[in-house]
Amino acid sequence: MVQFTLPKNSKIGEGKTWPHPAKAKKERELRIYRWNPDDGQNPRVDTYHINAGDCGPMVLDALIWIKNNVDATLTFRRSCREGICGSCSMNIDGTNTLACTKAMSDMTGPIRIYPLPHMPVVKDLVPDLTNFYAQHAAIEPWLHTVSPTPQKEWKQSHDDRQQLDGLYECILCACCSTACPSYWWNSERFLGPAALLQAQRWLVDSRDEATGERLDKLEDPFRLYRCHTIMNCAKACPKHLNPAKAIAEIKRALVERQV
Ligand code: SF4
Ligand code: SF4
Ligand code: FES
Repeated sequence: MVQFTLPKNSKIGEGKTWPHPAKAKKERELRIYRWNPDDGQNPRVDTYHINAGDCGPMVLDALIWIKNNVDATLTFRRSCREGICGSCSMNIDGTNTLACTKAMSDMTGPIRIYPLPHMPVVKDLVPDLTNFYAQHAAIEPWLHTVSPTPQKEWKQSHDDRQQLDGLYECILCACCSTACPSYWWNSERFLGPAALLQAQRWLVDSRDEATGERLDKLEDPFRLYRCHTIMNCAKACPKHLNPAKAIAEIKRALVERQV
């Protein structure tokens, strides 16, 4: 019988419970995944309590409050705190989302925070996105043209520009790809929903002149066809995009060019 066991050094242990904040009228409890590659210890889950009266409403506010007031070693990525940069993606109460747009009031009880699933961890809540970014680069996310470059600009009609809606808004947060079971098991070879949504963004750009070459590169049992339309990606996307639909449209374009 097949036995699935975690390697010893990836078993999550009991962490530290940090002191309650002094004089807090209202507290909120957070249980946060911690792992430091330098101390040789297993990952653990630490428990923190924040003074909710002294903290902003979002999960990112709580993480910053903890870093400033309780534990300066807590490590996470963030930049814009407006849902624009994609840096603060993590798994909050079992869902991949952006810490800066996830309100604590949406959740009851202790808030559980882990890094994005099935990714190597750099430290604490910071995943290693090297492969994810390489996959984005692999779809060549820039305009490919053979026509002479116009004097001023590559023009696009209003209708053609609208074809990019629902695609260009992606902030590359990786919430979708790391929610996709196919990506978990094949992330070396399946491009994943985020990169494929971007592939579609360039396929439908009326100014791009490399549609055939782009489709050739995608026509592969792993790169594209590992998507089994499970739809986790669309559910996870904090920008309300639908990578599964974009992938279905790429598959349709591949079929249509054969007839
Ligand atoms: S629809 Fe495709 S890409 Fe999206 S979660 Fe499912 S398998 Fe992954
Ligand atoms: S499609 Fe959505 S979830 Fe996926 S990377 Fe883009 S913004 Fe993030
Ligand atoms: S900090 Fe930029 S998306 Fe959250």
